[in-house]
Amino acid sequence: MQVTEIKKDIYWVGAVDWNIRDFHGYSTYKGTTYNAFLMLDEKNVLFDTVKKNYKSDLVHRIRTLIDPEKIDYIVVNHVEMDHSGCLPEIVELVKPEKIICSKMGKKNLIDHFHREDWPYHVVEPGETISTGKRSITFLETRMLHWPDSMFSYIPEEKLLISSDAFGQHFATSERFDDEVDETDLMYQAAKYYANILTLYSPLVRKLLKQVEEMGIEIDMIAPDHGLIWKNPGKILQAYSDWSHHKGTNKALVIYDTMWHSTEMMAHAIGDGIQSEGVSVKLFNLQHNHRSEIMADILDAKGVVLGCPTLNNGLLPRMAGFLMYLRGLRPTNKIGAAFGSYGWSGESVKLLNNAMEEMKFDLIDQGIKVKYVPRHDTLKECVELGKRVGKAVKEALESQ
Ligand code: FEO
Repeated sequence: MQVTEIKKDIYWVGAVDWNIRDFHGYSTYKGTTYNAFLMLDEKNVLFDTVKKNYKSDLVHRIRTLIDPEKIDYIVVNHVEMDHSGCLPEIVELVKPEKIICSKMGKKNLIDHFHREDWPYHVVEPGETISTGKRSITFLETRMLHWPDSMFSYIPEEKLLISSDAFGQHFATSERFDDEVDETDLMYQAAKYYANILTLYSPLVRKLLKQVEEMGIEIDMIAPDHGLIWKNPGKILQAYSDWSHHKGTNKALVIYDTMWHSTEMMAHAIGDGIQSEGVSVKLFNLQHNHRSEIMADILDAKGVVLGCPTLNNGLLPRMAGFLMYLRGLRPTNKIGAAFGSYGWSGESVKLLNNAMEEMKFDLIDQGIKVKYVPRHDTLKECVELGKRVGKAVKEALESQ
């Protein structure tokens, strides 16, 4: 089995999942990896494990380096099952001297595996342990994105093992950022942030500030998913930008449609936005996955939502999308709504209510059209798009 030395005597020993296509609602069309790392020192340390059905990949990789029984410590940076699913079998095999985790990590491991008897070693935030030639400092990253999450930092190597943070769902035979297409990599990193961390952006900002204040030097970030960052500057800057929900000169028109009336309106609104020099993307929910749309919402300043009325409410795809969007809580967006109706016509009001709840800056009450839009109403839609475009530009100027 292939292992990759990422720093002297520190090896990637994880697994590549080429087949996963859904990660609790996130479309992982590029697959993913479950990264685990083995550091050889006077005390041999395994950082995280892998998903349960990838245990043999992990064990075979470890065996190419050492007998698994020679592992002294297992560090559990994060309890979620894609990193701890095979932990019971690994603990049985390795018989570690210590299972190192945060206080919440111990609690959550017990709640998952019901093993009070494991040799837990709870570390405090900022605590350092020696492994011989090197040391590990543990940084608490509570709620990034689970209560138990923490980072492991190896100062002698300037290496940050960052659990889920800075990851990407991206299955590759390559292990490092400079071995793959950068545009593809940054898109996957953005999509990952958008779908997993948007909600926790205030904590990301706090963490980045804390790392800066501590003067921690980082020349490699090894996340638990995807490529390892040999050049961490770019992803650190991207996390800073994303966590501030800054937005760029871009607006999205996201809609569902029944008999194409709402779709006609979407096209006209998109034209209006574009005519103001703002980049626009249209997403029909029938053809675009919510997690792909979230990746674009991350840096879009404007979000226009459209839906016809069905049974006094919204079409189910839009209702589901709003549920997902509300959960992730993007902020600092310019919003507007539109939709067609036959008789009752509640959809635009419902879309406005949802955007108000998310504190989007609504430019007006939007446009609703009975049955099929006429030329005049499509002109009104173009004007709505222009108002969105202008509002996006003004908001960016005042940022
Ligand atoms: Fe990759 Fe939160 O588990």
